Formats: sequence, C-alpha cells, structure tokens
Amino acid sequence: MPKVLVATVKPFAPVAVEQIKKIIEDAGYEFALLEKYDSEEQLKEAVSDADALIVRSDKIHKGIMEAAPHLKIVVRAGAGYDNIDLQAATERGIVVMNTPGQNSNAVAELALGMMVYLARNQFNGKPGTELKGKTLGIHAFGHVGKRVAQIASGFGMELFAFDPFISDEEISKEGVTPVKSVEALYEKCQYVSLHIPANEKTMKSINFELLSRMPHNAVLVNTARKEIIDEEGLLKMFAEREDFKYISDIAPDCAAEIAEKYEGRYFFTPKKMGAQTAEANINAGLAAARQIVNFFEKGDRTFQVNK
Ligand code: 3PG
Repeated sequence: MPKVLVATVKPFAPVAVEQIKKIIEDAGYEFALLEKYDSEEQLKEAVSDADALIVRSDKIHKGIMEAAPHLKIVVRAGAGYDNIDLQAATERGIVVMNTPGQNSNAVAELALGMMVYLARNQFNGKPGTELKGKTLGIHAFGHVGKRVAQIASGFGMELFAFDPFISDEEISKEGVTPVKSVEALYEKCQYVSLHIPANEKTMKSINFELLSRMPHNAVLVNTARKEIIDEEGLLKMFAEREDFKYISDIAPDCAAEIAEKYEGRYFFTPKKMGAQTAEANINAGLAAARQIVNFFEKGDRTFQVNK
C-alpha cells in the first residue's frame, strides 16, 4: 500500500490536514505528516519510504529525490512549481503535478487587499485614495489574474491585461481590455498586479525599463515570486520615482535597504501568505490527495507538469 507523505515547512490549516488524511486512508494508503521541519536531513529521512509526496513551496531538488527511492509522484499543492526540479524528477521517472486554480481566490483577495492598504496609506489615518476609476494592469491572465479581474471590477477599476498565452477573446469575456505588449500594459496602468510564474524567461523580467513606463503614482503589487523582480531596477525605481510604491507578499533580498530609505512607500508580508487561508489549504490540499489516489488507482496524469 502506497505511503503518502505531506511535507510542509509552512503547514496547512489543521482542518485541511485532517481531510487530506481521510482521503488517503479511505483509499487504503498510509498517511504521514512532516510539518515545520528545519533541516533537509529531516525531509530526507521522511521521504525515504514515501511513494507519494504532497508539498507547498518546499524545495524538492535532486538530492531529496535521491533520498526517496520509492517516490513515484510529487504534487505541489498550489500553482507555482518552480520549487521542484522537474528535470531530476523526469530523469527518475517521478510524475510532478500542481493543483491549478485551487488557491487562486485567496491570492487574488490578498492582491486587492494590498492595493487598498497602500491606497489608504497603510491605514495610518491620513486621507488616501480610492481604487474606483483607477487603471489596473493584470500581468498574466491565469487563474489568479482572472480572479483579480473579477474582484477588481467590483471596485470599479478600469481593467487591462497582458498574457501572450491567453486569447484576447478570453480576456475580453471578463470585461478586461487585452493589451498587445507588456510595455503597453505598464504605460497604461497606475496599478500593476503580477501573476507570472518564475521561470528562465521571467526571472528578473520586471526591470527599471518596464517599471519606469508606469504613470504617476505607480503601484506595483507582487503576490507572485520575488525572482521575477530585477532588484537593481526596483531600487532605481524607488530612487528616481518618488511617487512609486511597491507591496509584495515576498520580501525582496534588498528589503532592508528599501526599509531604511523609503518609509511609507512599501510593505512586505513577514511570510508568504497569499495562499494562507483555510479555504485555499482545503482546496489545494484535497485536490493534491485526490490526484495522488487517481494516479495510483487509474493512472490519471491530469495536471502533470513534467510531461
Ligand atoms: C502558489 O504557487 O500556489 C502560491 O504561491 C502559494 O504558495 P504556498 O503554498 O507556498 O503558500
């Protein structure tokens, strides 16, 4: 009987863990849990007899896979799988999946919350501004971007999106204006919300050249990944554009320098928390457990990302 290990440095809500366990045990499989581990050794030991693994942003590199001789499937309970070495997994015949869309509402709500927070001067009591009527550029129109559009339309924002992988028709259907280039998106929008994955093409792609195109009182919202930001360019933007603000769910490496010089123009959550809701944990965690059962029972490889 397969052993399914849930290994998360950042634990799921207990209610999600309980329900994941139930799905695994109802299938007749063994369930194991490793939470808040603080060394790779702990993870290596825990995976040594696991057949399946459920993780969040946990780094699953070649060394971890080598320590898991029985491992057949890894499911990233979430959207971004940049934390998993896909090549190493493919070489070892390990199937890697994600659970697209399952935590997108949580991330989208946080993105809008962050916009309100900066528009209202971090709730310091001074007069702020409203989101209504302001331009919002949605950079990538996947599950999260689309949900951001739906919520932001309730705020009465004017919506634009750029995504080379999604048709104009699909974007327009949501009441959003598709724009032809990434440059045009930044030129048009006072607010830009990032929803691109971190990969070879997107690393450091949000640079000064792009940011400096943004109109007056520019606000960049990042609930995606810190690696997509060119931090040198970000610092230049802070220095040259006093009107620019940045809010992120993932503090940049240069956070201390920003904190020292640009008070009131930035905010970074202490820990990545876009998907940190009970609902998102339940949606993504249970989807992961079901995908594992379907994989073992029916050979179902829907959502495999290392084809
Ligand atoms: C994702 O890629 O699904 C989100 O960034 C959430 O990541 P987390 O599970 O580490 O909170």
